[in-house]
Amino acid sequence: MVQTAMERETVIVLDFGGQYNQLIARRVRECNVYCEVYPYTIGLEKIKEMAPKGIILTGGPNSVYGEDSALCEKGIFDLGIPVLGICYGAQVMALLLGGKVTAAPVSEYGKTEVETDKTAAVFAGVSEKTICWMSHTDYIEKEPAGFQVTAHTPVCPVAAMECADKNLYAVQFHPEVMHTAEGVTMLKNFVKNICGCAGDWKMDSFVETTIQEIRKKVGDGRVLLALSGGVDSSVAAGLLSRAVGKQLTCVFVDHGLLRKNEGDEVEAVFGPEGDFDLNFVRVNAAERYYEKLSGVTEPEQKRKIIGEEFIHVFEEEAKKIGAVDFLAQGTIYPDVVESGLGGKSAVIKSHHNVGGLPEHVDFKEIIEPLRNLFKDEVRKAGLELGLPEHLVFRQPFPGPGLGIRIIGEVTAEKVRIVQDADAIYREEIANTGLDKGMGQYFAALTNMRSVGVMGDGRTYDYAVALRAVNTDDFMTAEAVDLPFEVLQKVMGRIINEVKGVNRVMYDLTSKPPGTIEFE
Ligand code: XMP
Repeated sequence: MVQTAMERETVIVLDFGGQYNQLIARRVRECNVYCEVYPYTIGLEKIKEMAPKGIILTGGPNSVYGEDSALCEKGIFDLGIPVLGICYGAQVMALLLGGKVTAAPVSEYGKTEVETDKTAAVFAGVSEKTICWMSHTDYIEKEPAGFQVTAHTPVCPVAAMECADKNLYAVQFHPEVMHTAEGVTMLKNFVKNICGCAGDWKMDSFVETTIQEIRKKVGDGRVLLALSGGVDSSVAAGLLSRAVGKQLTCVFVDHGLLRKNEGDEVEAVFGPEGDFDLNFVRVNAAERYYEKLSGVTEPEQKRKIIGEEFIHVFEEEAKKIGAVDFLAQGTIYPDVVESGLGGKSAVIKSHHNVGGLPEHVDFKEIIEPLRNLFKDEVRKAGLELGLPEHLVFRQPFPGPGLGIRIIGEVTAEKVRIVQDADAIYREEIANTGLDKGMGQYFAALTNMRSVGVMGDGRTYDYAVALRAVNTDDFMTAEAVDLPFEVLQKVMGRIINEVKGVNRVMYDLTSKPPGTIEFE
């Protein structure tokens, strides 16, 4: 039986602009309770309509008493729905209910020992002294009437408080981040014990519910999806094809910046010979892209050109198809944050599948079924959909493709070099079995040429950089400690088999300060 949105146990997160908002939602989903993030300005009526089992107020960059303070409606605390305020959210709760929030004489940042009251509902099963992640310059100086203080530090008198009668709870620290040693237990206490959620939600419920929601929304309308063949758009295509079948048309733009043989592989899965019920259109646009990219070296400009050209090609195809009702996108949560669309976060890179929308495509509405999910959650959804494993666990691949793995100007020749080097690297990693569970690995072409010697002759050729990172959420990443003999073998093969390369390097940089891709 598929649950409707109303029947499904849901906890909502009200976003005050903090950095960890989706992480909170993810932690709740890890308790097998469905969770979505909404802006803090959401009205009481809308909340009542959704009838969530719990509400979490997030952290945020402001001061509750500053000019640009962000406050929710006070009525939220009278709905009879349990509320957990985190950091700024805790201060909002304190202020609106008559407590006192001021600048702390000593601001706390980092891992901090917090003394908890073990009898408090949020701290059931948590040690009396526990390490929590603090990040605040204001603090709750005095709790509102009717509240009990349930945790403190030497410099923070109200590190947590509760008003059990009204089901209101607040913590000054961040239980959602891993640095808070027992944070998962605290969130579980809130979601399960306080909100009373049974925790029977799973990714297959997400898939089934989303399919139902798409069907309801789309009716007998037509949907157009730009399919890149990457994990996200493939899962979106799978989801939409299961929901509306031939009402879906996928346009696959082969921009000549794909991995070796990838265009044909995508066609094999989604084309007429593949397993999916949908209309598949492949456009071979490599020459067009190389022309546009000729002479361009600046990363953001390259991204912009690739994104814009994609939109042009896509619009031309869409024109042939005619008016559609919905435009679908495989946008996932990290794309939204890093493109600065998730609130007040800074723009790090303009992800091309989020930044611009085609202006000349005739559609009524956007569908982004994966917008709230992290990459690993998207993969789980893909498996639930019955997508082949090789597709679900394929390397994530950015929209601008090899265009951002070739530092500097993109040419057909450089694309050939990076494709060949990358294919060797992936083949060798797969041979060792190291690919299982590894986050992302690929070869990139640096813009550096250096002198070498091959046979008896001097060479002056390009350097290939190998990258391999482990990551849970693609927002932070660590370089993988690859065995030296594997690296050496890959190096040997690349130098011998790929014309134009005489040097191979391994990138050790984590994210931050680096990013996963090179541009
Ligand atoms: P970065 O380089 O930002 O990459 O650390 C994080 C993850 O996002 C992928 N990525 C993109 N994905 N469009 C995409 O669909 C893009 O423009 C884009 N740029 C980066 C990257 O491959 C990694 O998985």
